[in-house]
Amino acid sequence: MKIGRVLVSAEEIEAKLTEMGAAITRDYEGQDLLLVGVLKGAFVVMADLARHIDLPLEFDFMAVSSYGASTKSTGVVRILKDLDEEIEGRNVLIVEDIIDTGLTLQYLIKNLEVRKPASLKLAALLIKDGVERPPLDVAYEGFHIGPEFVIGYGLDFDGKYRNLPYVAVVDEV
Ligand code: IMP
Ligand code: MG
Repeated sequence: MKIGRVLVSAEEIEAKLTEMGAAITRDYEGQDLLLVGVLKGAFVVMADLARHIDLPLEFDFMAVSSYGASTKSTGVVRILKDLDEEIEGRNVLIVEDIIDTGLTLQYLIKNLEVRKPASLKLAALLIKDGVERPPLDVAYEGFHIGPEFVIGYGLDFDGKYRNLPYVAVVDEV
């Protein structure tokens, strides 16, 4: 495998996260806010996005496995790590790296809504267009990309390349 063309540069990501952070700061001003990152992919987005939010927020994480052996989402989600804290009565903002089939998030939202948060919203850096998915209301979105497999900025290929500071396509060799 080779790193292919850069789809979203480090500078473009930085500018977008600045905008998203400003919008989140405005919307949650004076309110409690808990960011919930979906591991592992979202930890890079969450770290950088959070530093553009000028509020005394808190972090929590969930780890889920959405894919079986294949690279296609099945909708079968296993919770590998649950939240540390209860979320009843809290304003929860789920932070995701990318929305592909949306099945992982659909499951997570259902799972978290049962715990009765005061509000539950969604932020995602990347959204794949041209993919059939259940309706998802993404309150804070970064970039729309085509339905290709991408790596970098938290996204992996076989566990690697999460540390690339940009988002690139994969070139098969
Ligand atoms: P979904 O359930 O299909 O929306 O899958 C979401 C998860 O699949 C993301 O949080 C990523 O971890 C992973 N994923 C989806 N598309 C890609 C990609 O193009 N590259 C790397 N990981 C991806
Ligand atoms: Mg993920």
